[in-house]
Amino acid sequence: MDRRKILQRATEFIQKYYRETNSYAEEELIERLAAVEAQIIKLGTYVHTKEELEFGAKVAWRNSNRCIGRLFWDSLTVFDNRHLTDPLDIMRATVAYVKWAENDGKIRPAICVFAPLNPSNGESIRFWNSKLVRYAGYKDHDKDNVTGDPDEVEFTHACQRLGWKGAGGKYDVLPVVIDSPGYETQWFNWCDWHKPLEVPIIHPEYKWFEELELKWYGLPIISDMTLEIGGIEYTAAPFNGWFMGTEIGTRNLADEHRYNMLPEIAERLNLNKRNRSALWRDRALTELNTAVLYSFKARGVTMVDHHSAATQFERFERREKEAGRTVCADWAWLVPPTAGSTTNLFHKQWSNDVQSPNYYYADKPYEDHSGNDKHDSAVCPFHIQARK
Ligand code: ARG
Repeated sequence: MDRRKILQRATEFIQKYYRETNSYAEEELIERLAAVEAQIIKLGTYVHTKEELEFGAKVAWRNSNRCIGRLFWDSLTVFDNRHLTDPLDIMRATVAYVKWAENDGKIRPAICVFAPLNPSNGESIRFWNSKLVRYAGYKDHDKDNVTGDPDEVEFTHACQRLGWKGAGGKYDVLPVVIDSPGYETQWFNWCDWHKPLEVPIIHPEYKWFEELELKWYGLPIISDMTLEIGGIEYTAAPFNGWFMGTEIGTRNLADEHRYNMLPEIAERLNLNKRNRSALWRDRALTELNTAVLYSFKARGVTMVDHHSAATQFERFERREKEAGRTVCADWAWLVPPTAGSTTNLFHKQWSNDVQSPNYYYADKPYEDHSGNDKHDSAVCPFHIQARK
C-alpha cells in the first residue's frame, strides 16, 4: 500500500474513532490527524495508540460479514504484543493469550496482536497455522486415505518438512509455526507449553457414542487472517470467540471431506443407508449435533447452539440500527448449515459490502502442493488493487 492510500485509510479510521468514542473532542481529533499525517510522510506508516488498536479490532469484528456472533463485538479483549519480534517471545505471549481466552472453559473473546506488516520492505510476522489449535491430517499415498483432519493435510506436510513428527493419530494437535522477519521459521509443540482444552463427545441417551472416540478442541482461534485498521495491516493477530455447535457437529465431524462420521453414526442408529430419502444423513446429523452441544455443556465449555446464535444476531441488528449503522452480512455464511430455514436469518437479505476495519484472508505463507486456492473471496481490497 502506498503512502497516499495509507494516509487516506488512516484519516477515515481516526475520524471514525473520534466520532464513535468521544465525539466532542474536535481539537484532539485535528491534533491526532496532524500527528498521524506527519508520521506517514516521514516513515511511510504510523503507530496506533492502544485505544485505537482496541477500537479497531472490535469494529473489525463488528464488520465481519460472515460472523453470526457479532452481538459481542464490544466485549473483545485486546492483547497488545506489538513490541515482540523473537518467535520464542511470540510463542510465550500466544500461550498466555490462549490460556486467558480458554479460562478453564468459560471462554472469553480475545485477540493477540503482534507487530504489523512493514510497508517499506513488505516484511511481516506470520503464523503458518490457519487455526492455532487443529488436528493433523496424514495422507496415505497409496490409498488416498487420510488419518485425522483432511483439511490439514497441506499444513501437516509443511510441518513435517520443518522437522515436526506427528504420532500418526486421528487427533494429534499440530504445532504452532511462527515466521518472524530476521529469524528462522520456528515450530513449537503445544504439549511443551500448555495442553489445549479439548472436549470428548458423548451423547445424552446413546451410550455407544463414547465408543466412536470423537473429540474436538474447545477454542476456535483463527490465525490466518490479517486485521486491517486504518491502512495498517496486522498480519499476525490470532483471535477467538467460542464455537457454535454446528461448526463441529455439522461441518468438522460430519462433512464428507472432513471426519465424515455420518455413515458410522447412521449404522449405530440402525438406519437404512441404502435409502437416501429415508433421511439417514439428516437423522445422524441431528444426533451428532445433540452430542456436541451436550458434551460441551457437560464439560463446562462455552458453546452456542445455532438457534440462540441466530436470535443473538437479530439483537445485534437491532442495536446497530439504534446506533445508526448499517449491518452487512454474507447470507451463505450466516445461515447455519443445519436447520437453516428454522432460524430467522434464512428469510432475510443483506448487502455484503466490505467495511474497514476488517479481517481479511491472507495468502498462505508456505508452499501449498495441493494447488487449491481456498481463499478466493473476501481478499483484502488493497491486495485486489495491487493485483490489477
Ligand atoms: N469453523 C472454524 C473451525 O471449526 C472456526 C471459525 C471461527 N468460529 C468461531 N466460533 N469463532 O475451526
